[in-house]
Amino acid sequence: MWDILEKYEKAPLRLTDDEYLAVSDTEFRARFRERVHHTLEIQFYHALQTGRPLDPDQLKTAEHMCGLWRQRGLPTGHHDYEYAQRILAMARDCAEGKTVDLSPYAPPAVTEKDREAFFRAVHDRRSVRAFDHSREVPDELIDKVLNAGLWAAHACNLQSIRYLVVREKDEPWLLRGSDIPPGPVHIAVLQDERCYLANTVMSLKNRILDAGAATTNILLAIHAHGLDGVWLTYEDPMIDRLRERFGLDDYIRIVDFIDMGYGVQTPFPPQRPDVSERVIVRV
Ligand SMILES: Cc1cc2nc3c(=O)[nH]c(=O)nc-3n(C[C@H](O)[C@H](O)[C@H](O)COP(=O)(O)O)c2cc1C
Repeated sequence: MWDILEKYEKAPLRLTDDEYLAVSDTEFRARFRERVHHTLEIQFYHALQTGRPLDPDQLKTAEHMCGLWRQRGLPTGHHDYEYAQRILAMARDCAEGKTVDLSPYAPPAVTEKDREAFFRAVHDRRSVRAFDHSREVPDELIDKVLNAGLWAAHACNLQSIRYLVVREKDEPWLLRGSDIPPGPVHIAVLQDERCYLANTVMSLKNRILDAGAATTNILLAIHAHGLDGVWLTYEDPMIDRLRERFGLDDYIRIVDFIDMGYGVQTPFPPQRPDVSERVIVRV
């Protein structure tokens, strides 16, 4: 089923404190990120950029969410909480008219070499569909590419992405039904749909795009590590098989797949059109 959220009641954007304390940790953390993002982060940067003072009331929702975080007994060393605390501290300074210096967080200037490497990766990444099964992909490398997926853009910063990693040698032919033979490592990009309860007006389109953004990052990271991969999708029977094999909860959506490993084929790059052919409107 694609729109798993249909099974849940349309949850409101804001909950009562009792409700905030009763929902699952996953839903609460998503709601926490959403509230900090929409009620403080955006307004704080806007105030900094325009030089207009930030209304101190603007901090209240994020402060309240931090209080609920502590009331729930969630760890205050957690990156979500620490992030909110940093934004709150800077926003407080901004509201008090103090200087806020974000320059230490500016990324280093992009060099010509960086630029070349980036565009080379974009152009040279290929879908490779045959792999050397005798070469094991180390777990650390798999984690690095999965991490790249987590750094993709994500709607409302809800961070729904989850993964399933299956080595073909441990589960032979579990993943079948694609148009290519199975690769040595299968990554399924999943989503914990409970995150989207934080904003149920968000379209299914945005939710699926979150997974697509993660997938693109993963494919580029695979290429950057000198490995190869291919983006795959499977039909429902295969999805059901995986769901059953790993006992996945109904709020886990299986969106798409990547097979990765050391490739043994060199495809001729499918050519792309000139940009000018594809810009339908330019004013
Ligand atoms: C959403 C999506 C689904 C895809 N599914 C498959 C698939 O099931 N089997 C496959 O061999 N390739 C699949 N591909 C890879 C495309 O065939 C490939 O990206 C395209 O031919 C361009 O080649 P390139 O990736 O080497 O540039 C998929 C790509 C995307 C974006």
